[in-house]
Amino acid sequence: AVQPTRDDKFSFGLWTIGWQARDAFGDPTRGVLDPVEAVHKLAELGAYGITFHDDDLIPFGSDAQTRDGIIAAFRKALGETGLIVPMITTNTFTHPVFKDGAFTSNDRSVRRYALRKVLRNVDLAAEMGAKTFVLWGGREGSEYDVAKDVQAALDRYREGLNLIAQYSEDRGYGLRFAIEPKPNEPRGDILLPTAGHAIAFVQELERPELFGINPEVGHEQMSNLNYAHGIAQALWHGKLFHLDLNGQHGPKFDQDLVFGHGDLLNAFALVDLLEHGGWGGGPGYDGPRHFDYKPSRTEDVNGVWESAAANMRMYLLLKERAREFRADPAVQEALAASKVTELAQPTLNPGETYADLLQDRSAFEDFDADAAGEPGYGFVKLHQLAIDHVLRAN
Ligand code: GCO
Ligand code: MN
Ligand code: MN
Ligand code: MN
Repeated sequence: AVQPTRDDKFSFGLWTIGWQARDAFGDPTRGVLDPVEAVHKLAELGAYGITFHDDDLIPFGSDAQTRDGIIAAFRKALGETGLIVPMITTNTFTHPVFKDGAFTSNDRSVRRYALRKVLRNVDLAAEMGAKTFVLWGGREGSEYDVAKDVQAALDRYREGLNLIAQYSEDRGYGLRFAIEPKPNEPRGDILLPTAGHAIAFVQELERPELFGINPEVGHEQMSNLNYAHGIAQALWHGKLFHLDLNGQHGPKFDQDLVFGHGDLLNAFALVDLLEHGGWGGGPGYDGPRHFDYKPSRTEDVNGVWESAAANMRMYLLLKERAREFRADPAVQEALAASKVTELAQPTLNPGETYADLLQDRSAFEDFDADAAGEPGYGFVKLHQLAIDHVLRAN
């Protein structure tokens, strides 16, 4: 049951399994991974998709002929394995030119260059049949408050995103764009730091319907936020266009652990939500289950593939546990006792106005607030039932 298949829609960034484990303190501990090998290996493990930044596949500055050759070899591997490219993203953070950002660099010529680099990659996304285009503005931000006019930066961010969407629409690409929030790292403070900031920003764009978000587990948890709550809200807004699954132990540096290897219980609640939607019929998620993790620096090549498999295993195990959790009569009972399902019931009656509410003595004058404040909700029991399922203790 925990053998991944194409129907599970698991995808991996080429930069994840391909990470050579260079960090701020140390040299790479692993060699270069050939993208063609990555495609074959991922297909073998049961993934359905691979994603990449332009520069993951085609080294920065490659000439046209080299570029074409690499793309052709990659496409051949896709054809042989049936793996697809559901999402593409652009590297606007590695090269020194982007040290003060891309769309929001103080230097206008850098902003123009960034737009060109991204537009070129929008073409590649369409060519590869990608449906989603992710934008992670890792360098859009600052270390020094006085060195960045944040409002002007947001103007420039919007200008850039409007242009890209216009381009994609004019060419009939039909791409959907997903902004990836992150609070910090590499910049001291990154613009659009959380899912909530990004959702609010999207509403200010010319074509908000083309834009959603790509929240990452670790990024929200770095801000000490509840990822499952953030995803629930993104779904509620109709803005969960894509997601980055991984693991993180609370607010510290971006750990990019295997999915579920950080906050396991929140991962359980997340998988339950993605698979089943809210208890009251709110939406779940149908898109790629995309892993953006880093095989730890301690691991060799075998460890890379072990960890890739572990991501999918974690997801499927939690999916199995969540299915049993939902089906358990004891859980149904505890849910009812906790009134979890009562929350789906509108607070007003059909057609009821505030005037009617004001007339309803049972809602206020005759309401016994003390009595209503007495009974417990039984949430701990419900939560323990969830843990029992996660631990297979029942
Ligand atoms: C990070 C980010 C990136 C993005 C990627 C896709 O913290 O490094 O999560 O991995 O997801 O650039 O745009
Ligand atoms: Mn991360
Ligand atoms: Mn990340
Ligand atoms: Mn990410």
